[in-house]
Amino acid sequence: MSANTQHTLVDRDKALVWHPFTQEQTALARLPVVRGSGPWLYDEGNNAYLDLVSSWWVNLFGHARPEIAASIAAQANTLEHVLFAGCTHEPAVQLCEALNQMLPLELGKFFFSDNGSTAVEVALKMAHQYWRNVCSQERRLFIGFHGGYHGDTVGAMSVGAHCGYHDQFRSFFFDSVAVPFPETWLADQDVDAREAAALDALEASLKQHAGQVAAMIVEPLVQGAAGMRMCRPQFIAQAVALARVHDTLVIFDEVMTGFGRTGTRFAFEQTGVVPDFLCVSKGITGGFLPLALTITSDPIYQAFLSDTADKAFSHGHSYTANPLACAAALASLTLLNTAETTKAWQRLTQDHKSGLHMLLQTVPCIERVRQCGTIAAFDLPEDYPLAASQLHQCFLQEGLLLRPIGRTVYLMPSYVVNAEQLHNAYERIAHVLGAQADGARAVAPAMPEISI
Ligand SMILES: Cc1ncc(COP(=O)(O)O)c(C=O)c1O
Repeated sequence: MSANTQHTLVDRDKALVWHPFTQEQTALARLPVVRGSGPWLYDEGNNAYLDLVSSWWVNLFGHARPEIAASIAAQANTLEHVLFAGCTHEPAVQLCEALNQMLPLELGKFFFSDNGSTAVEVALKMAHQYWRNVCSQERRLFIGFHGGYHGDTVGAMSVGAHCGYHDQFRSFFFDSVAVPFPETWLADQDVDAREAAALDALEASLKQHAGQVAAMIVEPLVQGAAGMRMCRPQFIAQAVALARVHDTLVIFDEVMTGFGRTGTRFAFEQTGVVPDFLCVSKGITGGFLPLALTITSDPIYQAFLSDTADKAFSHGHSYTANPLACAAALASLTLLNTAETTKAWQRLTQDHKSGLHMLLQTVPCIERVRQCGTIAAFDLPEDYPLAASQLHQCFLQEGLLLRPIGRTVYLMPSYVVNAEQLHNAYERIAHVLGAQADGARAVAPAMPEISI
């Protein structure tokens, strides 16, 4: 008899699989997901869960979206892969053309990789080499923001050193400086003072390290993994202005915020400034396949041109610009650039507003209620009786896939979740949180949890 018939999927998984961001010893049972459709995921028992986290922030247009599936299938029957050094192909070029139409003229050069961390890693390496190429300067330092998370490769960890996820690897990191991120929320009275202090700290750091800073890196408008911490667009604009005055390049990590999450196609559109590097991934394929791009300007690109190989950008991955992923991205962008999608962002923005309002009435202990476009979040008080993983289980029992980050509960649904589904979800969230806040005492986990 095969193992398949003896054990459940969860048992077989437990025997062999090591999961990301998980303390395997204390982890609660995994959810055995067998299929997805629209905003729903289904388990082995055909129980439905409303996916309110877009499956780690990648899914934009619902699960198993037929248009994207068909585009991948057609491409798979034509060309599944070819190396991207020395070769090119139609889906990659078409994808760059489509993005080029969506982006300002300054951002016209596209470098492919395959996940958010590598999109950032590429931007860091390009920024570093840019200074060597143009003026033989060894600029080794990057400036980031407290709480900024940029991925799990060593460079991305180095510039996200203060996000709390990478402490075990600290001895590997290259030098970076983190300045305060002036997070804000609804009815926040102190945001002006917090922004002024953050800008002062940034300016002081730029002055102190004059001539050494390769680039400033920031998640514009929303720091995702730090717990959906949000800032005002004007802060980003002022921070970029300071970086420019101090002759420092600017990297916008839009791996999470890209493709509509903040209510515009890219978060930077709300800031009025254009970065030197734009990192995108996650939603680019609608959540079907891994793909990433580091998008930069012609002046940066020109700095790598030379008669000799030493100035070239010596970096690449086996699956760079994989045609299937590009085909998925092309179908996803077609869906993105419709009036229906723009309307969905507006509707979600309104529906979150009403949902958060209702929560404030029914669960008054929630704090720092905040929203940016299609992302909504709030914090639970420090003495809230359930930890993130326990809340996650309670939400699952209510048919909701939510994955709180520490004390932060957030909703980042795909754009196909309708008003009624979201309204019901908020009611069930209120029910779960209200029941616990009313006095249930639960056992806190023995150790701090890791949960992006
Ligand atoms: C802003 C940001 N940058 C980079 C990354 C890393 O992306 P990936 O997990 O695809 O490597 C993430 C992942 O959550 C992210 O939110």
